[in-house]
Amino acid sequence: MSRFVIYLALVGGLSLSTFYPSEQQRSRLESLIPVSLGFLLGLLVAETPLSSFLQEQLGLTSRNPDKVGLDILHSAGTADSKNAKSELNQRVMYGLQHAFLNLEVTGWWFNMGLWDKSKPMRFQDACKALVEKVTSHLNINHESHILDVGFGCGDQDVYMAQLYQPAQITGITIEAIQHHAAQELIKRTSIPGTEIQLHVADASKLPEFLASTPEVFSRAQDHQDGRFTHVVSIDSAYHYNTRAQFLKNASLVLVPETGRLALADMILAKPAPTSGLGRAIFKAVFSAMEVPATNMKTMDEYKQDLMDAGFVDIEIECIEDRVFSGLAQYIQNQTGRLGGLVKPGVNWTYWGLCKGLWWLDRSKWLHFVVVKARNGPRRS
Ligand SMILES: C[S@@+](CC[C@H](N)C(=O)[O-])C[C@H]1O[C@@H](n2cnc3c(N)ncnc32)[C@H](O)[C@@H]1O
Repeated sequence: MSRFVIYLALVGGLSLSTFYPSEQQRSRLESLIPVSLGFLLGLLVAETPLSSFLQEQLGLTSRNPDKVGLDILHSAGTADSKNAKSELNQRVMYGLQHAFLNLEVTGWWFNMGLWDKSKPMRFQDACKALVEKVTSHLNINHESHILDVGFGCGDQDVYMAQLYQPAQITGITIEAIQHHAAQELIKRTSIPGTEIQLHVADASKLPEFLASTPEVFSRAQDHQDGRFTHVVSIDSAYHYNTRAQFLKNASLVLVPETGRLALADMILAKPAPTSGLGRAIFKAVFSAMEVPATNMKTMDEYKQDLMDAGFVDIEIECIEDRVFSGLAQYIQNQTGRLGGLVKPGVNWTYWGLCKGLWWLDRSKWLHFVVVKARNGPRRS
């Protein structure tokens, strides 16, 4: 605080002397004032209690680095908050502002996770658990060629490569920025035995993507006649326009008879409203989530879509009890710990997501499903 008062007094003094200088002072001050004012204002913005407010107003940062440090300290459960706050106000030198230098992003995972409520879990571990749940018992081996549809930022491809060492993983995502992040990850992570190729493409246009990207099947060891052994899509298929069309295309690009489909997906647990305001709200809610309302089908309709697409031996497991509330709790905890790191608008988005997930958990309105199915015989 004392530094703040000194800076303020200096800025005030210099400003006043600009308006009421003596004759001799005028010439010396004229060159000194703009430089000094700029310097002191810079200090005010960077160094004083006004800083977080001013920085936020100027869009320079959303948070005072010291406060971020405090949040991180609390997240580790090592500080009693009242004492730590007053200790922070006594900071004379570095305080906790170097928290920024110690932050590390360990991945870009973004599925809803499979949560074990009996223990605290890191986000990435819940995401990995969901990937394992979807991809286990699919006979993925060193000869497999997986098509991963909606790969996010590529973490799941690296993880599948580590788990199963398939010969090849071809991934597609509709988002160029996620493709970019994934390419960076793949560059940094070498996975012996697995070639990972990632592309920007729309899941609802699989045949067009394959026709325009012949290198997908150009490997010498690709004996599958231009088809994949596995099509995987984790927490993504409900977005495709339409999912029913995607399922048909997935069957076409899979090896007949032995090709396997594996999904983590969302469907309705209760029938959708069919008319009036209810239907309008239903459509608006899903369109806000970029989910075509036509994809929101009941279990029977969903099974029918899989069969119509040509799949057999269909297994569907409902796991929503281990998904929605686990993620909601995690977002709540993470917001409490590090919510100040993100801009208020982003915080509101997570607040809404969290409330929505709690509501989904209570209302039992949606099923979160893991689907495994085998491709049927070749169709003409
Ligand atoms: C909830 S995220 C899951 C991402 C990833 N599976 C993971 O676990 O991190 C849904 C993903 O589906 C992708 N997606 C949505 N619509 C798509 C489409 N039509 N074609 C390809 N990818 C799509 C999004 O870009 C996003 O990465």
